[in-house]
Amino acid sequence: MRLLVTGGAGFIGANFVQQTVLERSDVTVTVLDALTYAGNKASLDSVADRIDFVHGDIADLDLVDELVSGVDAVVHFAAESHNDNSLSEPWPFVQTNIVGTYSLLQAVRRHDVRYHHISTDEVYGDLDVDDPAFTEATPYNPSSPYSATKASSDLLVRAWTRSFGVRATLSNCSNNYGPYQHVEKFIPRQITNLIDGVRPRLYGAGHQIRDWIHVDDHNRAVWTILENGQIGRTYLIGADGELDNKSVVRMLLEAFGRDPDDFDHVTDRPGHDQRYAIDASLLRTELGWTPRYGDFRAGLDATIAWYRDNESWWRPDKAGTERAYAQAGERTLGTE
Ligand code: NAD
Ligand code: DAU
Repeated sequence: MRLLVTGGAGFIGANFVQQTVLERSDVTVTVLDALTYAGNKASLDSVADRIDFVHGDIADLDLVDELVSGVDAVVHFAAESHNDNSLSEPWPFVQTNIVGTYSLLQAVRRHDVRYHHISTDEVYGDLDVDDPAFTEATPYNPSSPYSATKASSDLLVRAWTRSFGVRATLSNCSNNYGPYQHVEKFIPRQITNLIDGVRPRLYGAGHQIRDWIHVDDHNRAVWTILENGQIGRTYLIGADGELDNKSVVRMLLEAFGRDPDDFDHVTDRPGHDQRYAIDASLLRTELGWTPRYGDFRAGLDATIAWYRDNESWWRPDKAGTERAYAQAGERTLGTE
């Protein structure tokens, strides 16, 4: 199979490309990535001589058409992915997540190429603590500019499938963790703060709940859907990993041998979603997928070890990321 992977220099995409090259010798991979602040070509160093890398924009219709004409399938990870950035500057989210997806859909339509669309559980909005988890039937109700643009892109995929017969599947996954995640995101931000002896930064009271899944489990699910998913269908991906943010910060502090209350409460995110939770029954029963990383604490320890061992990968982004948070108005509200 000849595969085009968009966003392959980002967190999930780079892990996907590495896993694919290591485990599937019958697949040839071309990566298309614009190398925005979130893309890092070094994330592909270990497989650089076994893939083709194209530096370019998914919204470039001619480039995308040419690349898509030469492959059997597209897995579309590329996106502006950080909620906080979408609150400060929404335009790149509209351009990449909506216009970029349009560009890919037109190309796969023209060349009749199989397409898998990577999306997020955030398109469903948020849940109260007692609500049942999201399913494929949950109505869309996005909260942030990021999740609204991801929801828009999902709807484009559904329309192109129904109206033009595009052979597409979609997956909406919960919060990923693991190696190669940008230091702007919650878990890597706190790990790298702790490596630097800085206190973790918890938004508001820290009662928001996220449903954590290891990135390798997400990517194995993507392969399962690409190979066996029903065309036109959406699959939810999650590993029953619900935890509130404060508990995650306390686990990280314990892993560093620190007092679990040694963190700061900082300004909350406007419109902050309370809880995400995934019911992945369809994926488990119809396609037989099961996660391999059942123990979040063990996965977190391995992730901490990766950031300790790979400081040269994240260090260049750390100071600028913290400066951006400060410039966006993040203030310390207090301690425990
Ligand atoms: P990321 O921000 O780490 O990586 C995004 C990648 O896309 C980067 O390499 C960047 O350079 C590239 N990119 C951005 N704009 C581009 C453009 N216009 N053209 C080409 N490349 C461009 O993101 P991530 O966390 O790896 O997320 C990947 C996908 O998974 C996204 O679609 C995201 O919505 C989805 N997702 C993420 C999570 C999560 O927890 N991180 C969970 C569910 C779904
Ligand atoms: O649910 C899937 C989504 O998960 C993906 O679609 C997004 O691309 C991905 O970024 C992630 O979105 P979140 O907003 O949930 O992730 P983030 O890492 O930004 O924050 C996780 C939680 O931690 C959230 O409740 C906000 C909180 N937080 C975040 C940061 C950066 C903190 O308390 N402190 C922080 O410093």
